[in-house]
Amino acid sequence: MTTPTISRDRIKTIAQREAAAFLAARPKSKELAEQTEQHYLFGVPLHWMADWGTPVPLFVERAQGAHFTCVDGHSYSDFCLGDTGAMFGHSPAAVAAKLAEKSTEGYTAMLPTAAAAVAGKALTERFGLPFWQLATTATDANRFVVRWARAITQRKKILVFNGCYHGTIDDVFVDLDPNNPDAPPTTRASLLGQVYDLTQYSDVVEFNDIDAVRAKLVSKEFACVLTEPALTNCGMVMPADGFLKQLRDACNETDTLLVFDETHTISAGYAGYTGLCDFLPDMIVAGKAIAGGLPCAVYGMSAEVAAKMRAAKEAAPPGHSGIGTTLSGNMITMSLLATNLTEVATKEAFEQIIAQQSKLSDGLRAVIARYNLPWNVTQLGARSEFQFCPESPKNGKEAEAAMDAELEQAVHLYLLNRGVMITPFHNMTLVCPDTSDADIEKFLTAFESCVKELII
Ligand SMILES: Cc1ncc(COP(=O)(O)O)c(C=O)c1O
Repeated sequence: MTTPTISRDRIKTIAQREAAAFLAARPKSKELAEQTEQHYLFGVPLHWMADWGTPVPLFVERAQGAHFTCVDGHSYSDFCLGDTGAMFGHSPAAVAAKLAEKSTEGYTAMLPTAAAAVAGKALTERFGLPFWQLATTATDANRFVVRWARAITQRKKILVFNGCYHGTIDDVFVDLDPNNPDAPPTTRASLLGQVYDLTQYSDVVEFNDIDAVRAKLVSKEFACVLTEPALTNCGMVMPADGFLKQLRDACNETDTLLVFDETHTISAGYAGYTGLCDFLPDMIVAGKAIAGGLPCAVYGMSAEVAAKMRAAKEAAPPGHSGIGTTLSGNMITMSLLATNLTEVATKEAFEQIIAQQSKLSDGLRAVIARYNLPWNVTQLGARSEFQFCPESPKNGKEAEAAMDAELEQAVHLYLLNRGVMITPFHNMTLVCPDTSDADIEKFLTAFESCVKELII
């Protein structure tokens, strides 16, 4: 069977047709877009909301479990799930009940509540790191972790992997030149208003290249290596066998801290990807879904790192640490964090969502095989990514080379018009405890019919 060709003209024709169909079926979204255009820059509260490739933003009415309804009354099976925030479903019942219960008991006092004790114990038991701090977003948690790492190691540099994303923390936006592996790293070209030379203290190598990691760390100038255990923001890149352990060893040998950002890779299981490893990182970051989708993030640390953090704080003159925000660990999110950890994000919930994602991933693979497309699907527990390359990429460069913005837009719009939503950036799919076999069937049917049309 020959590999089918997908012509650029065909992609454009489908995208245009689907955009027109989207608009025709959504007069209320169109009307609301006309209103918000007048008051919001880019017509939306956050400019990313305009990045979905739809002719006007899709205005949501309500969301529950694995589904949401738009203002025009269409219902959708949601496989984007707020790009992970709603990984345990929209408004998970126990979190919603706790939110209602606590809504009249105060929101923020800059003091702990009894829920802090419950959440702290639950985090330690789950991830295996003994000490924790709260932040409001995963971006902030990463920012704080990098500061702590620099403070306690007295080293200025950090090492990240090409194609990484850890939120809008500036320090990680350094890239390798895709056309020249020997060229020095550069500050990410798309950043707005960045005036510092980020390459001064941030360095970058390709994921899965342990020799490149070692060559950097040997200088003992690096405070930490900050990484997702599998890259999930440039498509998906899984760690090669043994790579993470080698990374752990390279960090140990050079007294460099190893930080796992589990914000997305928590999809791998109850204790994130860390739970699949036979070693612990020095620090862990998690956010987005950790308190059921409400603004909350956490970062954990080993006893050794915690002792150094205490010493650094005590040694510093009184005044601002540069770490923390007023609403971090507020009364409401502490309660929701405790509830989500103990009642929602349970081992059973993970078993269920991983099993459902396996059905989806297998189904997508079957469609791809039926039409002999040079695409592949990589599953990471409850999330997966289909990528426009025959094999799972080994690093950020390969993952980025497989991206095709036009094709993505056509596929995403096609799915959306058939009641299936996936993430707007690359081709990530995520399932939640409420995702049913019928949702998966709906996805696979729409995906197959999209593929058929593309290869005509
Ligand atoms: C791995 C990772 N870390 C951190 C973040 C930042 O999360 P937030 O935007 O909630 O700050 C993201 C966001 O996509 C992420 O993918």
